[in-house]
Amino acid sequence: MLGVDARAAALAAGHEVVALTRADLDLTDLTAVESAVAGAAPEIVINCAAYTKVDDAETDGRDAAHLTNGVAPGYLAGAAAMAGAWIVHVSTDYVFDGAKTTGPYLESDATAPQSVYGASKLEGELAIAQAAPLSHTIVRSSWLFGNHGACFPATMLRLASTHDSLSVVDDQRGCPTFTPDLATALLAVASQQLLGVVHVAAGGDCSWYEFARETITRAGLGAVVTPCTTAEFPRPAPRPAYSVLRSGRGEAPVLRDWREGLLEYLEVRNSTEVQA
Ligand SMILES: NC(=O)c1ccc[n+]([C@@H]2O[C@H](COP(=O)([O-])OP(=O)(O)OC[C@H]3O[C@@H](n4cnc5c(N)ncnc54)[C@H](OP(=O)(O)O)[C@@H]3O)[C@@H](O)[C@H]2O)c1
Repeated sequence: MLGVDARAAALAAGHEVVALTRADLDLTDLTAVESAVAGAAPEIVINCAAYTKVDDAETDGRDAAHLTNGVAPGYLAGAAAMAGAWIVHVSTDYVFDGAKTTGPYLESDATAPQSVYGASKLEGELAIAQAAPLSHTIVRSSWLFGNHGACFPATMLRLASTHDSLSVVDDQRGCPTFTPDLATALLAVASQQLLGVVHVAAGGDCSWYEFARETITRAGLGAVVTPCTTAEFPRPAPRPAYSVLRSGRGEAPVLRDWREGLLEYLEVRNSTEVQA
């Protein structure tokens, strides 16, 4: 999802882009990673790839999450450093436990992942910093949605077209971040060479229930959305209850409010459906 928009943002900014899917390059293959990076001789490497099946990571996907999210970023960062490239790596709010009650999570807050996925992403952050200590940016973001992948608004729109009412969790808060906005920020931190961890998430915050209600209302659908608790919908992987990310770094990119991103998401979705 994010990778497609990162490619588009880089092309729009006039960069020459080599965009690789998993079929082109398995990130967990060290030799292949080294040869792909050396062959492309890039100035910037952006890693949008990850094992993102958060619930599966608790069971069958544990090893894949560890390898893809924890180990492979180190391969890529090592290869990027060898090529003299800056690496931008994407991480997540799931590195936190979500228990903070005194305001948004800043880069200076202690990490405490509660899920296998979160722990694997934190391991990846450390691998990046170790392999490219002077040439990396780790961008933590949250609640991504975009027009090129499975995401929460797409699920809500699908359910709202077949159900009269939906129950959605109201006791988890985060910042729904539109992937084209994040993609532009990934390029910005690369050209600024912003070293270390930086939080980049949409402005404003909401619960999943509020996100669902806004999505369905703005799409003009009639389904009724009612709030429920996380406990009513147990999932294999625990989610942070509070995921609001803000940056304490003055140079960090600031993104527009999530509602503005949502409107653009719906516009793009409508225009694609009309074309189809
Ligand atoms: N989605 C969110 O809400 C969210 C929130 C915060 C942070 N993030 C982070 O943001 C980044 C982008 O997320 P996304 O939602 O765009 O993810 P996504 O749509 O699931 O895309 C991840 C991509 O990585 C590929 N991949 C998996 N294993 C690979 C491997 N070994 N080698 C090469 N490619 C591999 C996947 O290929 P296959 O499809 O073939 O598996 C997929 O194309 C990730 O780092 C994620 O952890 C996501």
